[in-house]
Amino acid sequence: MADSIESMQAEGMTFEPPAWVRDNAYLKTREEYDAMYKRSVEDPEGFWAEQADEYLFWHKKWDTVLNWEFDTPKVEWFKGGLTNVAYNCIDRHLTTWRRNKAAIIWESDEGRTKMYTYQALYYKVCKLANVLKKHGIKKGDRVVIYLPMIPELAVAMLACARIGAIHSIVFAGFSAAAMRDRIQDCGAKMIITADEGIRGGRVVPLKAEADSALYECPTVETCLVVSRARARVDMEPGRDFWYHEEVRSADISRHCEIEWMDSEDPLFILYTSGSTGKPKGVLHTTAGYLLYSAMTFKYDFDYHDEDVFWCTADIGWVTGHSYVVYGPLCVGATSLMFEGVPNYPHPGRFWEVIEKHGVNQFYTAPTAIRAIMKSGDDWPKKFDLSTLRVLGTVGEPINPEAWMWYFNVIGKGKIPIVDTYWQTETGGHLITNQPGWTPMKPGSATFPFFGIRPVVLNEDQSETPVNSGGRLCIDFPWPGMLRGTWGDAENTLVKNTYFSQFPGKYFTGDGARVDQDGYYWLLGRVDDVINVSGHRMGTAEVESALVSQPLVAEAAVVGFPHDIKGEGIYAYVILKSGVEVPKSVESILAGHVREQIGPIAKPDHIQIVPELPKTRSGKIMRRILRKIAAGERDMDTFGDITTLADPSIVKVIVDGAPKL
Ligand code: WT7
Repeated sequence: MADSIESMQAEGMTFEPPAWVRDNAYLKTREEYDAMYKRSVEDPEGFWAEQADEYLFWHKKWDTVLNWEFDTPKVEWFKGGLTNVAYNCIDRHLTTWRRNKAAIIWESDEGRTKMYTYQALYYKVCKLANVLKKHGIKKGDRVVIYLPMIPELAVAMLACARIGAIHSIVFAGFSAAAMRDRIQDCGAKMIITADEGIRGGRVVPLKAEADSALYECPTVETCLVVSRARARVDMEPGRDFWYHEEVRSADISRHCEIEWMDSEDPLFILYTSGSTGKPKGVLHTTAGYLLYSAMTFKYDFDYHDEDVFWCTADIGWVTGHSYVVYGPLCVGATSLMFEGVPNYPHPGRFWEVIEKHGVNQFYTAPTAIRAIMKSGDDWPKKFDLSTLRVLGTVGEPINPEAWMWYFNVIGKGKIPIVDTYWQTETGGHLITNQPGWTPMKPGSATFPFFGIRPVVLNEDQSETPVNSGGRLCIDFPWPGMLRGTWGDAENTLVKNTYFSQFPGKYFTGDGARVDQDGYYWLLGRVDDVINVSGHRMGTAEVESALVSQPLVAEAAVVGFPHDIKGEGIYAYVILKSGVEVPKSVESILAGHVREQIGPIAKPDHIQIVPELPKTRSGKIMRRILRKIAAGERDMDTFGDITTLADPSIVKVIVDGAPKL
């Protein structure tokens, strides 16, 4: 990112939380945080037992607070306890004044609004839960949800939770092939989709995508279809059913009994990219996940009962799971759910929605902020943003320029920005500031949440000194952490991915440093994972999509700095010899990746190369590819390339790279 006056201003600056926010916050001083943090790490079992009592309803109390060892690894929180996520998110609010509070405010792509009180949500969830049961879904069965951001998505999650079915949401921007892989991996019995999605005025043909996926998914017995766009779609008799007809059927009751679940029964599977070619199905369980998402929600956004909270993330990602649905509903909050995009029908859409619904907490990604910044300061000025009290960011380190713009233009210099660092695997925030007390340093996620014990290590396992970069690990379990990956009872994948590089610790895959004041600064991924618009993409995943195209012999994919997306995707491709190369080969390959994974994986740049820079043992020197992708053209800057099998290839690739 180019240095601007604003980013230079932000460098080294600290911003105190404004008094008007502090005075009403749950945590007002560093001392209050310190005391609670100290307790959470010195007596984790006592601390979390107290929180579990306060935040969750228990049908039966747990036998043990925590069983763990990070060797297998195996982690259990509140084992033996019986509870239910849907009961906690809905039923128990019905006996309080919150019965008639808005649980979900839905803002559609075209600007319509629907509101669901907790009572209304209860009926919708119960009816759908009964429909699932009628179609043979039982505790432990997997249901894949492939829906746009419509209320039925939240309803479907909660209906699954109510009867103990495990949901796996596939982001509606993923392709049929990506959905097929996920359905096959988890062996789903049912899928819930829509005729079409509508985003930014454009139609997404979800049912058609689902049909082509289902062709290869014999485990799926039923497909429920929400009519979002009143489109005509093919319905296969005996397999496909309209959602609205099913829930209105005369035999469907408005009440549905709760399935009491063990704390460690699975709640959901969410597929995420790693450094291997195949996405892994991260598994979250019932009580620990819910407690952790609820508590981080309340403290890190300082949510109070009158507030309207808006997280702009799609529920297809973990951010939407934890902070559109589970965290907010567990504490009885009003959660705004937005179907649209930031720049439709105009670049002020976010600010218009904030004004329309009186949003108090607004949570989005740096990539969205950077994109909106480009359209200037006039758009936010057109709308009344005076209800805002907390701004949030998530997904990647926020660059100081975007931070300053968010702070000054959206927050008018008087609203704290919480920079929340976490992962699909962590269930909720790991490192973040809190609105009422933490002095902010733009670009730093600041301090650990309660119960989180981060350590920054050198590769030789020693702790890094102050201000020097290392690998971020967590050395004690927390309730929201993943319990495993789907289909791996031995937890081998989890062990190899997160627990083997630094034995006895959870390794995040991120680099970090701690400064002289104890602030954590995230430095980006240290593995072969890139961060495109705040979404994780495995380079190996894009590579395997590329080599599945018949023209391609070999591919190497790296990230490069991108103004809006944070990182862009750059692919180096060797074509098969002897095949006839079409003129538009780059766009054919880009289209193929889009088909295999989805639009977010489409390379920004594809360079056809005769060979890749490989060592004599055949290992690709990615360091060189990253430099070229980043725009480096000076041959003297590539360091030692004498260990390459053919050092002259570097010049060939540099010469073939786009002119700057
Ligand atoms: C990776 C996790 C759960 C958040 C949404 C993405 C990066 C996330 C931050 C932040 C610096 C961040 C990390 C992490 N990341 N938030 N505030 N500051 N980096 O979830 O797809 O599981 O990706 O996103 O690299 O490992 P995800």
